[in-house]
Amino acid sequence: MRVAFLGLGRMGAAMARHVLEGENELVVWNRTPGRAGELVAAGAKEARAVADAVEGAEAVVLMLFGPDSVREVLPEVLDHAPSGVLMVNSTTVGPLDAKEFGRLCEERGARYVDAPVTGTVGPATQGKLGVLVGCRDQDWEAVRPLVELWGDPARVRRVGDIGAGSALKLVVNQGIGVVAAGLGETLRLGAVLGVDRDLALDLLSQGAYGWVITQKRAMLEAGDFSRAQFSVDLLAKDLALAVDAARDAGLAVTQAALDDARRTIAAGHAGEDYSAIIGHLADEGEADSH
Ligand SMILES: NC(=O)c1ccc[n+]([C@@H]2O[C@H](COP(=O)([O-])OP(=O)(O)OC[C@H]3O[C@@H](n4cnc5c(N)ncnc54)[C@H](OP(=O)(O)O)[C@@H]3O)[C@@H](O)[C@H]2O)c1
Repeated sequence: MRVAFLGLGRMGAAMARHVLEGENELVVWNRTPGRAGELVAAGAKEARAVADAVEGAEAVVLMLFGPDSVREVLPEVLDHAPSGVLMVNSTTVGPLDAKEFGRLCEERGARYVDAPVTGTVGPATQGKLGVLVGCRDQDWEAVRPLVELWGDPARVRRVGDIGAGSALKLVVNQGIGVVAAGLGETLRLGAVLGVDRDLALDLLSQGAYGWVITQKRAMLEAGDFSRAQFSVDLLAKDLALAVDAARDAGLAVTQAALDDARRTIAAGHAGEDYSAIIGHLADEGEADSH
């Protein structure tokens, strides 16, 4: 299969690598040049323009920042990709965005598939991501072997029609955002009350915050969030998508987590790991208590 992979950020570069493991031809493109070195060394071709990347492609994969970046790139893809191309969007977008992209693709004779992923850079590198596929019945069998290149077959699921994958992905990430903000505020409470943070983390790791503390304790203890896996700006984007997607549902806790993420960004942590939200909130508390 000839695959064009657009977007070589942390996730895209790791996912695209797996396309070369099968009998596939891989052409890659990234908005900012210079991210394709390792992929080219492994056998990929690098295109300078979207038009060149998608020419003759049977499948085009998008792994961009969010819905606005897809909105910028997709029209050019559709102008130059062959009719009937499989458009696999793994960027996390909202369900309404996915439906909009699906309609646009249908009008232009392309087959749109919603395929956001769960898991971060480690699983992407190992080809063990979860993939939440939303697509038309007739496209599922075609897309499955492609997304299984970076997905764990046991965790590659078709969850419904176009938009269903994006809806489930927002639900998952809303949970991550709320837990991060909650833990930050829990540590802030501890700081205000003079509780030893290590002791608090020991006890909290046995409870509802267990997963995130296991994943992020080393970064929290070092106070260094620079080795981002999933960045604060991406999580803020997803929390904003969740709030927008359910405007009338009054998601006050989600809105508060979004405000916390935005305050963390304003303090200069946009590109850091999302656990910077926990550290920032906890330390705001420490500063307040002195
Ligand atoms: N990181 C994770 O753990 C994780 C896990 C699951 C899902 N996701 C989702 O996967 C997607 C990618 O995440 P990531 O961590 O790989 O992000 P990333 O490292 O920040 O990469 C973002 C990519 O999007 C490109 N981009 C941004 N705006 C663009 C535009 N207007 N036009 C064209 N390209 C644009 C960037 O190109 P430049 O290099 O030119 O900036 C880069 O290739 C996001 O939707 C994210 O929410 C991430």
